[in-house]
Amino acid sequence: MRIYKAKNEEEMSRKAANIISAQIILKPDSVLGLATGSTPIGTYRQLIEWYEKGDLDFSQVTAVNLDEYQGLSAEHEQSYAYFMRKNLFDHVNIRADHTYIENGVAEDAAAECRRYTDLIKSLGGIDLQLLGIGANAHIGFNEPGEALEKDTHLVKLSERTIQANARFFTDADAVPKYAFTMGIKAIMQARCIVLLANGEAKADAMYECICGHITAMAPASLLQLHNNVFVVADEAALSKVEADADVEIL
Ligand code: F6R
Repeated sequence: MRIYKAKNEEEMSRKAANIISAQIILKPDSVLGLATGSTPIGTYRQLIEWYEKGDLDFSQVTAVNLDEYQGLSAEHEQSYAYFMRKNLFDHVNIRADHTYIENGVAEDAAAECRRYTDLIKSLGGIDLQLLGIGANAHIGFNEPGEALEKDTHLVKLSERTIQANARFFTDADAVPKYAFTMGIKAIMQARCIVLLANGEAKADAMYECICGHITAMAPASLLQLHNNVFVVADEAALSKVEADADVEIL
């Protein structure tokens, strides 16, 4: 893991956008695994700015998103499909038919999971996977538990995740209780992983991710086993990691 400390969220976003830009410039037909949530919004904003300046071209890029709430259609304002259009896809020249996300309203959830797993395989896997991290150290919506699912699956969201995401809905009751998520295998097989975190609320999760035991109880800890992970995080999110003398922070 290479860990880059940023002064604040803005610097975190710029550093992350630089890594993603380099990926797109070096491999214009990259398959990008993308995340939603608050954390990557600034990164997407920066990528849009560089696209508008003419420095970036998404015309050959494919995007495959981590997760989607079950029960929300792609038109629903809280769906992750909507989020991606609003925060990135509508502002760059990515082809709409090169953007993929689970279908939240698929009638047959098991078939949808198989379809998405096969889709990622047919794309040849993921070149660069962007990740946020839950306060409970989830990645995608792979929640802490006794075991992790390999492939795309339907997950019952933990109470902590529902509470954390309630800010996007009228109240916690409105948050869907289930979501489709890419499994841990597609994430771990990504050729490069960029994990972003900012804010004190992520400090414990970042400690578990970087310094903790490797355990399904902290899914992000598995990233210690991957040989091409960039962590870009602000000082607050790294505050507990910094106390560990064994960790090199760049
Ligand atoms: C989102 C996702 C989640 C979030 C995580 C952090 O697609 O897979 O793992 O990255 O819940 O969310 P924020 O960034 O809102 O703190």
